[in-house]
Amino acid sequence: MRIPLIAGNWKMNTTVAEAMELASSMRARLDKIEGIEKVVCPPSISLTAVGRILQDSSVRLGAQNMYFEVKGAYTGEISPTMLKGLVQFVILGHSERRACFGETDEVINKKVQAALDFGLKPILCVGERLEENEAGETERVITKQLTRSLGGIKPTINLVIAYEPVWAIGTGRAADGLTAKTTIKCIRDVLAKLWDNDVAQEVRVLYGGSVTSNNIAEFVSQSEIDGALVGGASLKADEFPSIVSQSFVIKRQGA
Ligand code: 13P
Repeated sequence: MRIPLIAGNWKMNTTVAEAMELASSMRARLDKIEGIEKVVCPPSISLTAVGRILQDSSVRLGAQNMYFEVKGAYTGEISPTMLKGLVQFVILGHSERRACFGETDEVINKKVQAALDFGLKPILCVGERLEENEAGETERVITKQLTRSLGGIKPTINLVIAYEPVWAIGTGRAADGLTAKTTIKCIRDVLAKLWDNDVAQEVRVLYGGSVTSNNIAEFVSQSEIDGALVGGASLKADEFPSIVSQSFVIKRQGA
């Protein structure tokens, strides 16, 4: 039984005051929705403040990135020990980190291992670029990303994978539910080969890319898709809880 999960990636948006306001305005509505895991990932500078606002609620906190070393001369970076106790989840390998900051699968692999070592649940992002999609290379790209970023890592159900086609991020052009489902099935096949089938069936796999309250149903109604990693729509105090509650209703109906 995979517990559905909806995570909001706030990216580089909100000041500390705005993050606190957003978390406060969503807390009560999100807290009421049970049977689904709800995660918000504000900018790291707001984690402590938002964590206080979410204290004693069922809404979980996630970071957007993390370095793999524990401490030392790594100016500007945040370590797993700094996040431990503060967040439960950490987004790793987001395509914006790959594209803007040169993150490779090899670096992401070390980050995934470090997160797991410190009891944090990685939300590992994979996804193909537009030209790769058009060349019919989606499965090859995803397989390579997964194989490299999970190489040497022991099978664990604490991992969450987010399938985020790069061409669907922030474009308003989401993948269709069936295409997302097919790729997510491929992700589970890769996990089954890399680890084993039982673990592959238990790991949660999310879809991300232009998810809104208008199209969430298309994704979560697929039994292969366990939820969503939401960008822009997670910054809207009405929209994000609506995405979560629709997902809860659809998954409760057996999807
Ligand atoms: P959008 O929902 O804004 O397309 O962003 C998706 C994303 O990158 C979430 O990590």
